[in-house]
Amino acid sequence: MTVPTPILEMEGISKRFPGVVALDQVSLTVGTGEIVALIGENGAGKSTLMKILGGAISRDAGTVKIDGNPVEISSPREASALGIEFIHQELSVLDNLDAAANIFLRREPTKGGFLKLIDRKRIYREADELLRKIGLDLPSRTPLGQLSLAQQQLVEIARALGAGARIIIMDEPTSSLTLSETRRLVEIVKDLKARNVSVIYISHRMHEVEEIADRAVVLRDGKNAGEIKGTEITHERMVRMMVGRDLKEFFKGARGNGTNKDGEGFEVRRLRTLRYPQHLVSFNVGKGEVLGFAGLVGAGRSEVARAIFGVEEAIETEVALNGKALHIDDPQDAITHGIYLVPEDRRLSGLIVDFNVRENISLPNLDSYSSAKLINRAKEAKAALDACKAINIKTPTTEMRAANLSGGNQQKVVLAKWLTFSPRVLIFDEPTRGIDVGAKAEIYELIRKLAAEGVSVIVISSEMEEVLGISDRIAVMHEGRLTGILERPQFSEEAVMRLATGSHTEAQNAQK
Ligand SMILES: Nc1ncnc2c1ncn2[C@@H]1O[C@H](COP(=O)(O)OP(=O)(O)OP(=O)(O)O)[C@@H](O)[C@H]1O
Ligand SMILES: [Mg+2]
Repeated sequence: MTVPTPILEMEGISKRFPGVVALDQVSLTVGTGEIVALIGENGAGKSTLMKILGGAISRDAGTVKIDGNPVEISSPREASALGIEFIHQELSVLDNLDAAANIFLRREPTKGGFLKLIDRKRIYREADELLRKIGLDLPSRTPLGQLSLAQQQLVEIARALGAGARIIIMDEPTSSLTLSETRRLVEIVKDLKARNVSVIYISHRMHEVEEIADRAVVLRDGKNAGEIKGTEITHERMVRMMVGRDLKEFFKGARGNGTNKDGEGFEVRRLRTLRYPQHLVSFNVGKGEVLGFAGLVGAGRSEVARAIFGVEEAIETEVALNGKALHIDDPQDAITHGIYLVPEDRRLSGLIVDFNVRENISLPNLDSYSSAKLINRAKEAKAALDACKAINIKTPTTEMRAANLSGGNQQKVVLAKWLTFSPRVLIFDEPTRGIDVGAKAEIYELIRKLAAEGVSVIVISSEMEEVLGISDRIAVMHEGRLTGILERPQFSEEAVMRLATGSHTEAQNAQK
Protein backbone atom coordinates (compact mmCIF):
# COMPACT_ATOMS: atom_id res chain seq x y z
CA MET A 1 0.00 0.00 0.00
CA THR A 2 1.37 3.40 -0.86
CA VAL A 3 0.79 6.44 1.26
CA PRO A 4 -0.59 9.27 -0.90
CA THR A 5 1.82 12.16 -1.39
CA PRO A 6 0.76 15.02 0.87
CA ILE A 7 -0.31 18.09 -1.03
CA LEU A 8 1.97 20.26 1.12
CA GLU A 9 5.22 19.58 2.92
CA MET A 10 7.09 22.38 4.67
CA GLU A 11 10.34 21.23 6.23
CA GLY A 12 12.97 22.86 8.41
CA ILE A 13 11.52 26.33 7.94
CA SER A 14 13.44 29.02 9.81
CA LYS A 15 12.88 32.75 9.93
CA ARG A 16 14.65 35.35 11.97
CA PHE A 17 13.59 38.97 12.50
CA PRO A 18 15.88 41.48 14.21
CA GLY A 19 16.08 40.29 17.81
CA VAL A 20 13.60 37.42 17.34
CA VAL A 21 13.80 33.90 16.03
CA ALA A 22 10.22 33.66 14.77
CA LEU A 23 10.59 30.14 13.33
CA ASP A 24 13.22 27.56 14.12
CA GLN A 25 13.25 24.43 11.91
CA VAL A 26 9.48 24.16 11.70
CA SER A 27 7.77 21.43 9.71
CA LEU A 28 4.19 21.20 8.55
CA THR A 29 2.55 18.58 6.37
CA VAL A 30 -0.98 18.80 4.99
CA GLY A 31 -2.89 16.06 3.18
CA THR A 32 -5.42 16.55 0.40
CA GLY A 33 -8.79 17.50 1.83
CA GLU A 34 -7.34 17.66 5.31
CA ILE A 35 -8.22 20.36 7.84
CA VAL A 36 -5.11 21.16 9.82
CA ALA A 37 -5.38 23.56 12.72
CA LEU A 38 -2.25 25.56 13.41
CA ILE A 39 -2.31 26.61 17.03
CA GLY A 40 -0.03 28.18 19.59
CA GLU A 41 0.30 31.11 21.94
CA ASN A 42 0.58 34.69 20.74
CA GLY A 43 3.89 35.13 19.00
CA ALA A 44 4.45 31.38 18.50
CA GLY A 45 5.07 31.93 14.77
CA LYS A 46 1.80 30.81 13.17
CA SER A 47 1.23 33.85 10.97
CA THR A 48 4.89 33.99 10.01
CA LEU A 49 4.82 30.39 8.80
CA MET A 50 1.69 31.05 6.77
CA LYS A 51 3.06 34.29 5.32
CA ILE A 52 6.01 32.26 4.03
CA LEU A 53 3.65 29.73 2.45
CA GLY A 54 1.55 32.53 0.99
CA GLY A 55 4.58 34.21 -0.57
CA ALA A 56 4.26 37.37 1.52
CA ILE A 57 7.65 36.98 3.20
CA SER A 58 10.73 34.91 2.43
CA ARG A 59 12.19 32.15 4.57
CA ASP A 60 15.78 31.98 5.80
CA ALA A 61 15.99 28.19 5.49
CA GLY A 62 13.94 25.12 4.73
CA THR A 63 12.02 23.59 1.83
CA VAL A 64 8.45 23.79 0.61
CA LYS A 65 7.03 21.01 -1.55
CA ILE A 66 3.70 20.87 -3.34
CA ASP A 67 2.64 17.40 -4.51
CA GLY A 68 6.15 16.25 -3.64
CA ASN A 69 7.88 18.82 -5.85
CA PRO A 70 10.07 21.56 -4.36
CA VAL A 71 8.71 25.03 -5.10
CA GLU A 72 9.82 28.63 -4.63
CA ILE A 73 7.03 30.95 -3.62
CA SER A 74 8.17 34.54 -3.77
CA SER A 75 4.87 36.39 -4.14
CA PRO A 76 1.18 35.91 -3.38
CA ARG A 77 0.63 35.58 -7.11
CA GLU A 78 3.01 32.65 -7.30
CA ALA A 79 1.28 31.07 -4.31
CA SER A 80 -2.03 31.50 -6.09
CA ALA A 81 -0.70 29.84 -9.23
CA LEU A 82 0.17 26.84 -7.06
CA GLY A 83 -3.35 26.72 -5.67
CA ILE A 84 -2.60 28.41 -2.33
CA GLU A 85 -4.98 31.14 -1.18
CA PHE A 86 -4.72 33.20 1.98
CA ILE A 87 -7.80 34.51 3.82
CA HIS A 88 -6.22 37.23 5.90
CA GLN A 89 -7.38 38.38 9.25
CA GLU A 90 -7.17 41.96 8.14
CA LEU A 91 -9.40 41.52 5.13
CA SER A 92 -7.97 42.31 1.74
CA VAL A 93 -11.24 42.85 -0.07
CA LEU A 94 -11.78 46.26 -1.61
CA ASP A 95 -14.98 47.80 -0.44
CA ASN A 96 -15.54 50.25 -3.26
CA LEU A 97 -15.78 47.37 -5.73
CA ASP A 98 -18.68 44.98 -5.99
CA ALA A 99 -18.51 41.37 -4.86
CA ALA A 100 -17.91 40.03 -8.37
CA ALA A 101 -14.94 42.34 -8.95
CA ASN A 102 -13.45 41.19 -5.67
CA ILE A 103 -13.96 37.57 -6.54
CA PHE A 104 -12.06 38.00 -9.81
CA LEU A 105 -9.46 40.29 -8.31
CA ARG A 106 -5.83 39.51 -9.11
CA ARG A 107 -6.86 36.94 -11.69
CA GLU A 108 -5.38 37.89 -14.99
CA PRO A 109 -6.91 36.84 -18.28
CA THR A 110 -4.51 33.96 -18.84
CA LYS A 111 -4.41 31.48 -21.68
CA GLY A 112 -7.84 30.21 -22.52
CA GLY A 113 -9.36 31.97 -19.56
CA PHE A 114 -12.78 33.41 -20.21
CA LEU A 115 -11.75 36.78 -18.78
CA LYS A 116 -9.98 37.33 -22.09
CA LEU A 117 -13.36 38.11 -23.52
CA ILE A 118 -14.23 40.38 -20.62
CA ASP A 119 -17.65 38.90 -20.78
CA ARG A 120 -19.22 40.81 -17.90
CA LYS A 121 -22.42 38.83 -17.97
CA ARG A 122 -20.45 35.68 -17.55
CA ILE A 123 -18.34 37.17 -14.76
CA TYR A 124 -21.46 38.06 -12.81
CA ARG A 125 -23.01 34.70 -13.50
CA GLU A 126 -19.92 32.86 -12.27
CA ALA A 127 -19.64 35.13 -9.26
CA ASP A 128 -23.30 34.62 -8.39
CA GLU A 129 -22.79 30.91 -8.59
CA LEU A 130 -19.73 31.00 -6.33
CA LEU A 131 -21.58 33.10 -3.78
CA ARG A 132 -24.46 30.66 -3.82
CA LYS A 133 -22.04 27.78 -3.39
CA ILE A 134 -20.79 29.19 -0.12
CA GLY A 135 -24.28 30.08 0.99
CA LEU A 136 -24.14 33.84 0.62
CA ASP A 137 -27.46 34.78 -0.92
CA LEU A 138 -26.56 38.09 -2.45
CA PRO A 139 -26.28 39.36 -6.00
CA SER A 140 -22.61 39.66 -6.92
CA ARG A 141 -23.27 43.26 -7.98
CA THR A 142 -23.56 44.29 -4.33
CA PRO A 143 -20.80 46.72 -3.36
CA LEU A 144 -18.56 45.23 -0.70
CA GLY A 145 -18.99 48.30 1.48
CA GLN A 146 -22.60 47.26 2.05
CA LEU A 147 -21.66 43.88 3.48
CA SER A 148 -20.92 42.94 7.06
CA LEU A 149 -17.46 41.81 8.02
CA ALA A 150 -18.63 38.20 8.03
CA GLN A 151 -20.10 38.53 4.56
CA GLN A 152 -16.93 40.15 3.27
CA GLN A 153 -15.03 37.21 4.62
CA LEU A 154 -17.32 34.86 2.73
CA VAL A 155 -16.59 36.84 -0.43
CA GLU A 156 -12.90 36.23 0.21
CA ILE A 157 -13.59 32.53 0.49
CA ALA A 158 -15.57 32.65 -2.74
CA ARG A 159 -12.59 34.36 -4.35
CA ALA A 160 -10.29 31.59 -3.11
CA LEU A 161 -12.63 28.93 -4.46
CA GLY A 162 -13.04 30.71 -7.76
CA ALA A 163 -9.27 30.92 -8.10
CA GLY A 164 -9.20 27.14 -7.92
CA ALA A 165 -7.60 26.97 -4.50
CA ARG A 166 -6.36 23.58 -3.35
CA ILE A 167 -5.05 24.89 -0.05
CA ILE A 168 -6.83 27.69 1.79
CA ILE A 169 -5.09 29.37 4.70
CA MET A 170 -7.39 31.01 7.24
CA ASP A 171 -5.62 33.15 9.83
CA GLU A 172 -8.03 33.68 12.73
CA PRO A 173 -11.07 33.78 10.44
CA THR A 174 -13.57 33.94 13.27
CA SER A 175 -11.96 36.46 15.58
CA SER A 176 -14.33 39.21 14.43
CA LEU A 177 -17.36 37.02 13.81
CA THR A 178 -20.33 36.51 16.04
CA LEU A 179 -21.62 33.19 17.19
CA SER A 180 -23.99 32.42 14.35
CA GLU A 181 -21.54 33.67 11.73
CA THR A 182 -18.90 31.43 13.21
CA ARG A 183 -21.22 28.44 12.88
CA ARG A 184 -21.65 29.23 9.20
CA LEU A 185 -17.91 29.44 8.66
CA VAL A 186 -17.38 26.12 10.38
CA GLU A 187 -19.93 24.56 8.00
CA ILE A 188 -18.13 26.09 5.03
CA VAL A 189 -14.79 24.71 6.15
CA LYS A 190 -16.34 21.25 6.42
CA ASP A 191 -17.80 21.70 2.96
CA LEU A 192 -14.39 22.68 1.55
CA LYS A 193 -13.03 19.46 2.96
CA ALA A 194 -15.78 17.52 1.22
CA ARG A 195 -14.61 19.13 -2.03
CA ASN A 196 -11.06 17.91 -1.35
CA VAL A 197 -9.76 21.37 -0.58
CA SER A 198 -7.18 21.44 2.23
CA VAL A 199 -7.57 24.06 4.93
CA ILE A 200 -4.96 25.40 7.31
CA TYR A 201 -6.92 26.95 10.12
CA ILE A 202 -5.40 29.28 12.71
CA SER A 203 -7.56 30.02 15.72
CA HIS A 204 -7.39 30.76 19.41
CA ARG A 205 -10.89 29.38 19.90
CA MET A 206 -10.25 25.87 21.10
CA HIS A 207 -13.80 24.59 20.77
CA GLU A 208 -13.79 25.44 17.06
CA VAL A 209 -10.56 23.56 16.56
CA GLU A 210 -11.95 20.63 18.49
CA GLU A 211 -14.93 20.55 16.19
CA ILE A 212 -13.36 20.86 12.76
CA ALA A 213 -9.71 19.89 12.76
CA ASP A 214 -8.49 16.52 11.51
CA ARG A 215 -5.15 17.32 13.05
CA ALA A 216 -3.84 20.11 15.26
CA VAL A 217 -0.23 21.17 14.79
CA VAL A 218 1.11 23.05 17.77
CA LEU A 219 3.85 25.69 17.66
CA ARG A 220 5.57 26.95 20.75
CA ASP A 221 8.22 29.69 20.68
CA GLY A 222 8.83 29.22 16.98
CA LYS A 223 9.28 25.45 17.16
CA ASN A 224 7.08 22.41 16.57
CA ALA A 225 5.69 21.40 19.96
CA GLY A 226 3.83 18.33 18.72
CA GLU A 227 0.58 17.42 17.06
CA ILE A 228 -2.73 15.89 18.04
CA LYS A 229 -5.01 13.83 15.84
CA GLY A 230 -8.74 13.35 15.44
CA THR A 231 -10.72 12.60 18.56
CA GLU A 232 -7.66 13.21 20.72
CA ILE A 233 -7.97 16.91 19.96
CA THR A 234 -9.35 18.23 23.21
CA HIS A 235 -9.25 21.63 24.76
CA GLU A 236 -7.03 20.43 27.57
CA ARG A 237 -4.50 18.58 25.47
CA MET A 238 -4.14 21.49 23.09
CA VAL A 239 -3.64 23.99 25.85
CA ARG A 240 -1.11 21.81 27.61
CA MET A 241 0.90 21.42 24.41
CA MET A 242 0.65 25.10 23.58
CA VAL A 243 1.86 26.41 26.90
CA GLY A 244 3.95 23.42 27.91
CA ARG A 245 2.26 23.15 31.29
CA ASP A 246 -1.20 22.77 32.80
CA LEU A 247 -3.18 25.94 32.97
CA LYS A 248 -5.06 26.86 36.05
CA GLU A 249 -8.77 26.68 35.55
CA PHE A 250 -9.88 28.80 32.63
CA PHE A 251 -12.73 30.64 34.30
CA LYS A 252 -13.20 30.68 38.00
CA GLY A 253 -16.45 32.44 37.36
CA ALA A 254 -17.44 35.87 38.54
CA ARG A 255 -17.80 36.51 42.23
CA GLY A 256 -20.68 38.92 42.16
CA ASN A 257 -18.83 41.05 44.65
CA GLY A 258 -20.12 44.31 43.26
CA THR A 259 -22.41 46.59 45.17
CA ASN A 260 -25.56 47.83 43.57
CA LYS A 261 -26.60 50.24 46.25
CA ASP A 262 -28.30 53.39 45.09
CA GLY A 263 -25.86 56.04 44.14
CA GLU A 264 -22.84 53.73 44.20
CA GLY A 265 -20.96 53.15 41.01
CA PHE A 266 -21.63 54.28 37.49
CA GLU A 267 -24.97 55.14 36.01
CA VAL A 268 -26.07 55.86 32.45
CA ARG A 269 -29.60 57.17 31.82
CA ARG A 270 -31.47 57.84 28.60
CA LEU A 271 -28.51 57.49 26.30
CA ARG A 272 -29.41 58.12 22.67
CA THR A 273 -26.68 57.43 20.14
CA LEU A 274 -26.46 58.90 16.65
CA ARG A 275 -26.70 55.45 15.12
CA TYR A 276 -29.86 54.43 16.95
CA PRO A 277 -31.57 57.71 17.91
CA GLN A 278 -34.93 55.98 18.38
CA HIS A 279 -33.75 53.94 21.37
CA LEU A 280 -32.97 55.08 24.90
CA VAL A 281 -30.40 53.01 26.73
CA SER A 282 -30.21 53.04 30.54
CA PHE A 283 -28.14 50.89 32.88
CA ASN A 284 -25.89 51.03 35.89
CA VAL A 285 -22.69 49.28 36.91
CA GLY A 286 -22.11 48.91 40.61
CA LYS A 287 -18.85 49.71 42.31
CA GLY A 288 -16.75 46.58 41.90
CA GLU A 289 -19.15 45.04 39.47
CA VAL A 290 -18.43 43.57 36.04
CA LEU A 291 -21.26 44.21 33.63
CA GLY A 292 -21.02 42.19 30.42
CA PHE A 293 -22.45 43.58 27.21
CA ALA A 294 -23.54 40.87 24.80
CA GLY A 295 -25.18 41.10 21.39
CA LEU A 296 -24.55 40.43 17.75
CA VAL A 297 -22.02 42.54 15.89
CA GLY A 298 -23.69 45.83 15.01
CA ALA A 299 -26.10 45.72 17.95
CA GLY A 300 -24.87 49.14 19.03
CA ARG A 301 -22.69 48.19 21.96
CA SER A 302 -19.57 49.96 20.70
CA GLU A 303 -21.65 53.07 19.95
CA VAL A 304 -22.82 53.12 23.56
CA ALA A 305 -19.22 52.78 24.76
CA ARG A 306 -17.94 55.51 22.46
CA ALA A 307 -20.75 57.86 23.42
CA ILE A 308 -20.02 57.38 27.12
CA PHE A 309 -16.32 58.03 26.57
CA GLY A 310 -17.08 61.12 24.51
CA VAL A 311 -15.43 59.98 21.28
CA GLU A 312 -18.79 60.09 19.62
CA GLU A 313 -21.47 62.62 20.26
CA ALA A 314 -24.59 61.42 22.06
CA ILE A 315 -27.90 63.07 21.19
CA GLU A 316 -28.75 63.04 24.84
CA THR A 317 -27.63 61.29 27.98
CA GLU A 318 -27.29 61.57 31.72
CA VAL A 319 -24.22 60.08 33.30
CA ALA A 320 -23.49 59.88 37.01
CA LEU A 321 -20.65 58.51 39.08
CA ASN A 322 -21.35 57.74 42.74
CA GLY A 323 -24.53 59.76 42.51
CA LYS A 324 -22.84 62.83 41.09
CA ALA A 325 -23.89 63.95 37.62
CA LEU A 326 -21.03 64.29 35.14
CA HIS A 327 -20.69 66.22 31.98
CA ILE A 328 -18.66 64.50 29.28
CA ASP A 329 -18.04 66.25 25.99
CA ASP A 330 -14.86 64.55 24.90
CA PRO A 331 -12.49 61.78 26.01
CA GLN A 332 -10.45 64.28 28.02
CA ASP A 333 -13.51 64.97 30.23
CA ALA A 334 -14.06 61.25 30.65
CA ILE A 335 -10.44 60.62 31.62
CA THR A 336 -10.55 63.48 34.13
CA HIS A 337 -13.40 61.65 35.87
CA GLY A 338 -11.53 58.36 35.78
CA ILE A 339 -13.53 56.82 32.95
CA TYR A 340 -11.57 54.94 30.30
CA LEU A 341 -12.36 53.04 27.14
CA VAL A 342 -10.14 50.27 25.82
CA PRO A 343 -11.34 50.30 22.22
CA GLU A 344 -12.20 47.46 19.93
CA ASP A 345 -10.06 48.25 16.93
CA ARG A 346 -6.54 48.47 18.20
CA ARG A 347 -5.25 49.70 14.87
CA LEU A 348 -7.64 52.61 14.65
CA SER A 349 -7.71 53.96 18.14
CA GLY A 350 -5.77 51.80 20.53
CA LEU A 351 -2.31 51.33 19.16
CA ILE A 352 0.16 53.50 17.31
CA VAL A 353 2.00 50.91 15.29
CA ASP A 354 4.93 53.20 14.48
CA PHE A 355 5.62 53.83 18.14
CA ASN A 356 7.54 51.37 20.22
CA VAL A 357 6.02 49.37 23.04
CA ARG A 358 7.22 51.75 25.77
CA GLU A 359 5.82 54.81 24.00
CA ASN A 360 2.49 53.10 23.42
CA ILE A 361 2.12 52.16 27.05
CA SER A 362 3.11 55.53 28.46
CA LEU A 363 1.33 57.63 25.87
CA PRO A 364 -1.97 58.32 27.65
CA ASN A 365 -0.21 58.90 30.93
CA LEU A 366 2.69 61.09 29.93
CA ASP A 367 1.99 63.69 32.59
CA SER A 368 2.85 61.35 35.36
CA TYR A 369 6.24 60.57 33.89
CA SER A 370 7.34 64.07 33.10
CA SER A 371 8.98 66.44 35.49
CA ALA A 372 9.84 69.95 34.39
CA LYS A 373 8.52 69.13 30.95
CA LEU A 374 11.13 66.41 30.50
CA ILE A 375 9.92 62.90 30.22
CA ASN A 376 11.49 60.78 32.86
CA ARG A 377 12.74 58.00 30.60
CA ALA A 378 13.79 55.65 33.36
CA LYS A 379 10.45 55.89 35.11
CA GLU A 380 8.59 55.50 31.84
CA ALA A 381 10.67 52.48 30.83
CA LYS A 382 10.14 50.86 34.22
CA ALA A 383 6.37 51.33 34.09
CA ALA A 384 6.29 49.87 30.58
CA LEU A 385 8.41 46.93 31.61
CA ASP A 386 6.21 46.26 34.66
CA ALA A 387 3.08 46.37 32.52
CA CYS A 388 4.67 44.00 29.97
CA LYS A 389 5.52 41.58 32.73
CA ALA A 390 2.10 41.82 34.37
CA ILE A 391 0.37 40.43 31.29
CA ASN A 392 3.28 38.65 29.63
CA ILE A 393 3.80 40.70 26.52
CA LYS A 394 6.16 38.82 24.25
CA THR A 395 8.71 41.27 22.89
CA PRO A 396 12.51 41.22 23.01
CA THR A 397 12.56 44.75 24.44
CA THR A 398 10.13 47.56 25.20
CA GLU A 399 11.88 49.49 22.41
CA MET A 400 10.38 47.18 19.73
CA ARG A 401 8.05 48.86 17.23
CA ALA A 402 4.49 47.82 17.96
CA ALA A 403 4.01 46.96 14.28
CA ASN A 404 6.41 44.04 14.63
CA LEU A 405 4.57 42.36 17.48
CA SER A 406 2.26 39.42 16.81
CA GLY A 407 -1.46 40.23 16.69
CA GLY A 408 -2.25 39.10 20.20
CA ASN A 409 0.70 40.88 21.70
CA GLN A 410 -0.40 44.13 20.07
CA GLN A 411 -3.73 43.74 21.82
CA LYS A 412 -1.94 43.21 25.11
CA VAL A 413 0.00 46.46 24.66
CA VAL A 414 -3.30 48.29 24.31
CA LEU A 415 -4.47 46.73 27.58
CA ALA A 416 -1.17 47.44 29.30
CA LYS A 417 -1.65 51.18 28.86
CA TRP A 418 -4.60 51.18 31.21
CA LEU A 419 -2.77 49.28 33.91
CA THR A 420 -0.77 52.36 34.70
CA PHE A 421 -3.88 54.34 35.76
CA SER A 422 -6.22 54.29 38.69
CA PRO A 423 -9.53 54.13 36.84
CA ARG A 424 -13.00 54.31 38.38
CA VAL A 425 -14.88 53.11 35.33
CA LEU A 426 -13.24 50.91 32.70
CA ILE A 427 -14.94 49.94 29.48
CA PHE A 428 -13.35 47.10 27.54
CA ASP A 429 -14.54 46.60 23.99
CA GLU A 430 -13.71 43.03 22.90
CA PRO A 431 -10.68 42.85 25.19
CA THR A 432 -9.41 39.43 24.19
CA ARG A 433 -9.89 39.42 20.45
CA GLY A 434 -7.00 37.44 18.97
CA ILE A 435 -5.54 36.64 22.37
CA ASP A 436 -4.39 33.11 23.22
CA VAL A 437 -6.01 31.04 25.96
CA GLY A 438 -3.26 31.52 28.50
CA ALA A 439 -3.19 35.27 28.08
CA LYS A 440 -6.99 35.35 28.14
CA ALA A 441 -7.03 33.75 31.56
CA GLU A 442 -4.53 36.39 32.68
CA ILE A 443 -6.70 39.19 31.33
CA TYR A 444 -9.83 37.82 33.01
CA GLU A 445 -7.95 37.68 36.27
CA LEU A 446 -6.86 41.24 35.74
CA ILE A 447 -10.41 42.39 35.08
CA ARG A 448 -11.66 40.62 38.22
CA LYS A 449 -8.83 42.19 40.19
CA LEU A 450 -9.76 45.67 38.98
CA ALA A 451 -13.35 45.00 40.01
CA ALA A 452 -12.24 43.75 43.41
CA GLU A 453 -10.42 47.04 43.85
CA GLY A 454 -13.73 48.85 43.37
CA VAL A 455 -13.63 49.74 39.68
CA SER A 456 -16.91 49.57 37.78
CA VAL A 457 -16.10 47.45 34.74
CA ILE A 458 -18.01 47.09 31.48
CA VAL A 459 -16.92 44.28 29.15
CA ILE A 460 -18.32 44.24 25.64
CA SER A 461 -17.78 40.79 24.21
CA SER A 462 -19.06 38.69 21.35
CA GLU A 463 -17.57 35.54 22.77
CA MET A 464 -20.22 33.62 24.64
CA GLU A 465 -17.90 31.75 27.02
CA GLU A 466 -16.23 35.00 27.89
CA VAL A 467 -19.31 37.03 28.62
CA LEU A 468 -20.90 34.22 30.67
CA GLY A 469 -17.69 33.59 32.56
CA ILE A 470 -16.59 37.04 33.51
CA SER A 471 -19.78 39.02 34.15
CA ASP A 472 -21.72 39.63 37.35
CA ARG A 473 -24.66 40.67 35.19
CA ILE A 474 -25.10 40.69 31.42
CA ALA A 475 -26.77 43.48 29.47
CA VAL A 476 -27.88 42.30 26.04
CA MET A 477 -28.47 44.54 23.05
CA HIS A 478 -30.28 44.01 19.78
CA GLU A 479 -30.31 46.62 17.02
CA GLY A 480 -29.65 49.54 19.28
CA ARG A 481 -32.07 48.49 21.98
CA LEU A 482 -31.22 47.09 25.39
CA THR A 483 -33.35 43.96 25.29
CA GLY A 484 -32.64 42.80 28.80
CA ILE A 485 -30.27 42.49 31.71
CA LEU A 486 -29.58 39.02 33.07
CA GLU A 487 -28.69 38.28 36.67
CA ARG A 488 -26.20 35.50 37.35
CA PRO A 489 -28.76 32.77 38.14
CA GLN A 490 -30.42 33.47 34.76
CA PHE A 491 -27.18 33.09 32.80
CA SER A 492 -27.24 30.65 29.91
CA GLU A 493 -26.13 30.68 26.31
CA GLU A 494 -29.73 30.37 25.25
CA ALA A 495 -30.95 33.27 27.35
CA VAL A 496 -28.26 35.53 25.91
CA MET A 497 -28.96 34.43 22.34
CA ARG A 498 -32.70 34.98 22.76
CA LEU A 499 -32.18 38.55 23.87
CA ALA A 500 -29.43 39.12 21.31
CA THR A 501 -31.66 38.10 18.43
CA GLY A 502 -34.48 40.23 19.77
CA SER A 503 -36.90 37.37 20.23
CA HIS A 504 -37.51 38.10 23.90
CA THR A 505 -40.46 40.42 23.59
CA GLU A 506 -41.43 40.58 27.26
CA ALA A 507 -38.05 42.04 28.06
CA GLN A 508 -38.44 44.51 25.24
CA ASN A 509 -41.76 45.63 26.59
CA ALA A 510 -40.35 45.93 30.06
CA GLN A 511 -37.73 48.29 28.67
CA LYS A 512 -40.25 50.82 27.50
N1 LIG B 1 7.95 42.04 10.58
C1 LIG B 1 8.41 41.63 11.77
N2 LIG B 1 9.49 42.21 12.33
C2 LIG B 1 9.96 41.79 13.52
N3 LIG B 1 9.43 40.79 14.24
C3 LIG B 1 8.36 40.16 13.73
C4 LIG B 1 7.78 40.55 12.47
N4 LIG B 1 6.71 39.75 12.23
C5 LIG B 1 6.62 38.90 13.29
N5 LIG B 1 7.60 39.15 14.19
C6 LIG B 1 7.83 38.42 15.45
O1 LIG B 1 7.85 37.03 15.17
C7 LIG B 1 7.23 36.29 16.22
C8 LIG B 1 6.12 35.43 15.65
O2 LIG B 1 5.05 36.26 15.25
P1 LIG B 1 3.72 35.73 14.55
O3 LIG B 1 2.98 36.91 14.07
O4 LIG B 1 4.08 34.68 13.56
O5 LIG B 1 2.96 35.06 15.79
P2 LIG B 1 1.53 34.34 15.84
O6 LIG B 1 1.77 32.94 16.27
O7 LIG B 1 0.82 34.55 14.58
O8 LIG B 1 0.84 35.11 17.06
P3 LIG B 1 -0.70 35.66 17.28
O9 LIG B 1 -1.47 34.51 17.82
O10 LIG B 1 -0.53 36.71 18.34
O11 LIG B 1 -1.20 36.20 15.99
C9 LIG B 1 6.77 37.31 17.24
O12 LIG B 1 7.72 37.39 18.26
C10 LIG B 1 6.72 38.60 16.44
O13 LIG B 1 6.94 39.70 17.29
MG1 LIG C 1 -0.96 35.73 14.03
